[in-house]
Formats: sequence, structure tokens, C-alpha cells
Amino acid sequence: MKVTAKANSNIALIKYWGKRDARLNLPAVGSISVTLAGLSTTTSVAFDENLKGDRFILNGQAEAKEESQRVSRFLDIIRQMSGVRQQAIVESSNNFPTAAGLASSASAFAALSLAASRAAGLELSAAKLSELARRGSGSAARSIFGGFVEWRRGEKDDGSDSVAEPLAEKDFWDIRVLIAVTSAQKKKTGSTDGMILSKLTSPYYTAWVESSPDDLNGMRHAILKKDFQKMGELAEFSCLKMHAVALASNPGMIYWNGATIEGLQLIRELRRQGNAVYFTVDAGPQIKAICLPETVQKVSAALENLAGVQRIIGTRLGDGAQLIGEQI
Ligand code: DP6
Repeated sequence: MKVTAKANSNIALIKYWGKRDARLNLPAVGSISVTLAGLSTTTSVAFDENLKGDRFILNGQAEAKEESQRVSRFLDIIRQMSGVRQQAIVESSNNFPTAAGLASSASAFAALSLAASRAAGLELSAAKLSELARRGSGSAARSIFGGFVEWRRGEKDDGSDSVAEPLAEKDFWDIRVLIAVTSAQKKKTGSTDGMILSKLTSPYYTAWVESSPDDLNGMRHAILKKDFQKMGELAEFSCLKMHAVALASNPGMIYWNGATIEGLQLIRELRRQGNAVYFTVDAGPQIKAICLPETVQKVSAALENLAGVQRIIGTRLGDGAQLIGEQI
């Protein structure tokens, strides 16, 4: 049976950075995100007894060895859970340009979890799907759900309580996120390696972990009260704190370029002028402007005029992972 599923990407308002267990991909801190419509991955999976090895095709092309191995290792977890022994063909496509430096492991592993588990005959609950997606990539645990989502750090060694859960539906609060792309290059240090390096070397790592519960509590309240200022202030705080941990690692990780910094200053200037806008930045140079509907146009125009900004992608809140088709 060939099963197709679709999942959206997400952006963390309170960041995930650091692992308490790298093998099971258990985070050192909880995180809170918004799932974004319009940045999605669609993936089909079919297990086939005639295949000699797993095959992974992304946007119509066979993927490089490293990526294929990551997918294959993930399929091994599903084979273990289901008892299916066959190899699989995995066909994936992103609806955003892969070259835009936005390639997202979150939408990819969320879609793959749903499609592959169903193709293997498993019917997992949303919480179990989130636990499974986490094994592929931490942020993917959050993309199983739509709207506002919290991924709990969890306490158990087996990771069964380190799953995401919905905080509020996408229609609860109309938040917009503008993504200003400043570089299409692949980042030098991926999130996984960056987190490991921070844990080993950053003197700020312990403070980051210890201060996390306050950020999570504050953000949960801000969202439920629809307090945009509080939400934005905490999002900037979490983002800058995460980058401080990365910068103070050894060797320090500088994920930003000049345009990123200019963009952050511009967003703060727009705010001083009375516009409701805050920023967040992940482990890369793209700027994410968090806006309300009434500020989208002004912020978009200002970012578009900034030297070094290549394109703006406008997004709103979106749904969680969904099944699209099952074919015998
Ligand atoms: C900076 O989920 O890509 O975007 O679990 O190692 O695959 P792995 O990491 P990943 O890390 C995302 C880090 C971040 C912050 C966030 O999304 O919370």
C-alpha cells in the first residue's frame, strides 16, 4: 500500500536547543511553536518486497547518501514497531523552493512519520505520532499538530512523555509570520551538531536550561491571553538567548549574516514607530517577523527594501499533519 501524507513546517517562539539524550532525541528544554501554512512537505511511502534497499527521492531527485541514511534509520524504527521487514520507497516534495535555505526537517519528518507508519499498517494516536516524529527530528514532533503547539521536555528515560500537544487552534488567534530570506546557502553547522557542541562547550548552556521553565510558562500565558506584546518580547528573548548559547560555544556558531542583523534592528525600529512586530531567528540567517494582520503590509514592504533580503514569504497559522491518500 502506498500512503501519502502532508505536514507543515513550524517556527519556535520558545526555542528547542540542547538534548538530554541524543539517541532518543530527547530535548533538554521544552519548546513552543506555531505551525505555518504554506511551508509544507508531501510524502508518499510504500514498502515493497522487491526493493533491495530503501530509496529516498526528494523533489524528483534521488537524495544524497547522508540524507538517505537518515531516512533509512528512521524507517528502521517503524520496521521495528510494526514487524514489517520490507524496504521502502519514499517520495517527498516541498512546496517551497529547496534552494531558499528553508529546507525543513520539521515538515519532512512529520509527514514521513504519518505516511510510513500507516504504510506499515500502524494506526498511531497523535501523541504517539509526535513521539515517533521526534526521533527523526525534534522540531518535527511539533508539526504533527496545527496552530499553537507545546513540546514537553518530558522526564522519562524512554521518551514516552516527551511529545508535543496542541495549546490553541490555528483560528484562536490570527498571528502572521513573514520570512525574509537572506541567503540560500546550506548552513555550516546543522542544528543537531550545534546543540551537541553547545552542551559540551558553552558556559551559558546550564543557565539556558535552568531558565527555560519561566519562558515556557510566560509564553503559554501570553498565547492564552492573546497578549501580543508579551508573546513577542518572550519570543525575542528566547531567540537571542539561544543564539547567545550558540555564540559562546567553542568554536562559536554565528548563524547570522549582515542582513540578518540589519533586519533585527529594522524590526525594533518599526516597533518604536508603533507597529506590532517582533522577530525570531533559527539556526540560520533568515529573519522571521511575527506580526498581527494589520502590520503585515508595512513590515513586509520595509523588509523587502532591506539590502540583502532576497524574498519575503508570508505565512499564517496552519494545520497539523494530515493523510492525503491511500492506494493499494
Ligand atoms: C533552532 O529539530 O532541526 O530551529 O532534533 O537535531 O533534528 P534535531 O534538531 P532540529 O532543531 C531545531 C532548532 C531550532 C529551534 C526550534 O525549532 O525549536
